[in-house]
Amino acid sequence: FGNNDGKQLTGKTVLITAGPTREKIDPVRFISNHSSGKMGYALAEEAKRQGAHVVLVSGPVQLQAPSGVDIVKVESAEEMYSAVLSYFDGADIVIKTAAVADYRPKIAHDHKVKKQSGDTTIELERTKDILFELGQRKKKQLLVGFAAETNNVEEYARKKLFAKNADMIVANNVKADGAGFGSDTNIVTLFKPNGSITKLPLMTKTAVAEKIIEEITSLLKEMGKN
Ligand code: PMT
Repeated sequence: FGNNDGKQLTGKTVLITAGPTREKIDPVRFISNHSSGKMGYALAEEAKRQGAHVVLVSGPVQLQAPSGVDIVKVESAEEMYSAVLSYFDGADIVIKTAAVADYRPKIAHDHKVKKQSGDTTIELERTKDILFELGQRKKKQLLVGFAAETNNVEEYARKKLFAKNADMIVANNVKADGAGFGSDTNIVTLFKPNGSITKLPLMTKTAVAEKIIEEITSLLKEMGKN
C-alpha cells in the first residue's frame, strides 16, 4: 500500500527513544539500568530503511547511530523528557524503547559524597512519566510503548496500554533467556487496544524491529493515517 517506492514510511517522521537514563547522585555516581540501546537502535535503523525521517533520542550507550538518523544525546530522565517533547509535535510515530528511570536522587550533590562510618540512605523522588505525558498530548501521533516486566507480563502490559493511552505496547519478559536487556535477541508480545495479541518467538532485535515496524504500518493503515 501507500508509497510506490516500496518503502512503508516515506514522508513520516518517527521519534524513537533508546538506552538507559542516568540519574546523578554526585559527580562520580549515578543510578541507571542495563539497557544497551540495541532494541531502540535496531528500530531506528529499520524505520530509516523504510524511508522515514528518524529522530533518535538516546541515553548513554556504546552504539553508533545508524547513518542518516538524527541523534539527540541525553543523560537523565528529565533531559529525555525535554528532548522528546520538543520533537513530539513534528512526529507521526513515537516509539518509546528507552528504559527511563522511575526515580532519581532528590539531591544531586555538586561534590563527591564522602564515605562515612555506618550505613546511609539516598532519598529518591519520581521522575516524569514521558509515555504518560505523550498519551495525554497526542493528536495525530501513533504512540508505541514498551513494557519491561519480570512477571505477570500480559496483565501489566494491558494495564500500560490503557493507562498510557498507547496504540501498541511491546512487552518483553526481561527475565526470559535471550530476551530483554543487553542481548542481541528478544522475545516480545505486541498488545493493541482492540484486544489483539501477537506473540513473537525468540528473534534477533533486528528481526523484532522489522516486525514492530510492519505492525505499525498496518496500524497506520487501519487508522487511515498512511
Ligand atoms: O536496550 P536493550 O539492551 O536492547 O534492551 C531493550 C529493553 C529491554 C530496554 C526494551 O526492550 C524495553 O523493554 N524498554 C522499556 C523499558 C522500560 O523502562 O519499561 P517500563 O515498563 O519501566 O516502562 C514502560 C514504558 O514507559 C516504556 O515505553 C518507557 O520508555 C516508558 N517510560 C517509563 C518511565 C518514565 N519515567 N517515562 C517513560 O516514558
